[in-house]
Amino acid sequence: MQMNDCSEDPIGVFDSGLGGLTVVKELNHHLPNERIVYFGDTARVPYGTKSGETIIRYSREIVRVLLKHKVKMVVVACNTASSLALDVLKKEFDLPILGVIEPGARKAAAVTRNNKIGIIATSSTVKSGKYARKIVQLNKNIVVFSQPCPLFVPLVEEGWFDHAITYQVAGHYLRDIKKKKIDTLILGCTHYPLLKGVLHNVMGTQVQLVDSAQEVALQVKEVLTKRRLLRTRLGPCQHLYIVSDEPQQFKRLAMRFLGGGVKHVRRHIYV
Ligand code: DGL
Repeated sequence: MQMNDCSEDPIGVFDSGLGGLTVVKELNHHLPNERIVYFGDTARVPYGTKSGETIIRYSREIVRVLLKHKVKMVVVACNTASSLALDVLKKEFDLPILGVIEPGARKAAAVTRNNKIGIIATSSTVKSGKYARKIVQLNKNIVVFSQPCPLFVPLVEEGWFDHAITYQVAGHYLRDIKKKKIDTLILGCTHYPLLKGVLHNVMGTQVQLVDSAQEVALQVKEVLTKRRLLRTRLGPCQHLYIVSDEPQQFKRLAMRFLGGGVKHVRRHIYV
């Protein structure tokens, strides 16, 4: 037992909206005993087209809300916020804060055989160059090709995982990256894991898809284990979901991302 034992406290997770539930799904899988307080900034989504300055301001506000819920660590599930705000958040707040970029980049650098990696993400994530820089830092022989795919987010929220239009859009976005003969593709946006089927189909099954949501969940487990912060009390625990717009739409779409319903959804009103 530590002096200041906060192992029973929840993990804070935040995203621009509901896409971060793909990270919650992975956390549920790898850390089923942990309690989660999730913040989805549904009133201000999308982040993927916004400036770094705005995303930093939003992210800072959200971490403050999560701290009121006594979270023991924060997971920035949003790739855009991880790209643009993570460094600032780490400097400003005194608790472990993890983003999705580094775990995804590490995994991709480890699995590529031909040192050609593709990244698909929102426009702001691609523009930040964070994934590419991290990968090259890990192995300077790797060449990275990035492609923004902004239409994937609304297609996923529409539930068009297997729709002809989604195939058409994916074919268009991935045309150039395919020509580069990459063997690894990072899904650098919360929504893209739901398009794995389409992406496998368009890219070919020889291209490995790296799911940042999966990788960050494994890193959260590692950090909590190392810091002796894993929840030890067994038994069911209820997650809390906080959204900044009305909860109904979130509840309706959450099913798609989580594969199960969400019970406790509360609204946060910015003042
Ligand atoms: N959550 C965002 C991300 O992972 C995608 C949605 C948005 O643009 O806000 O980058």
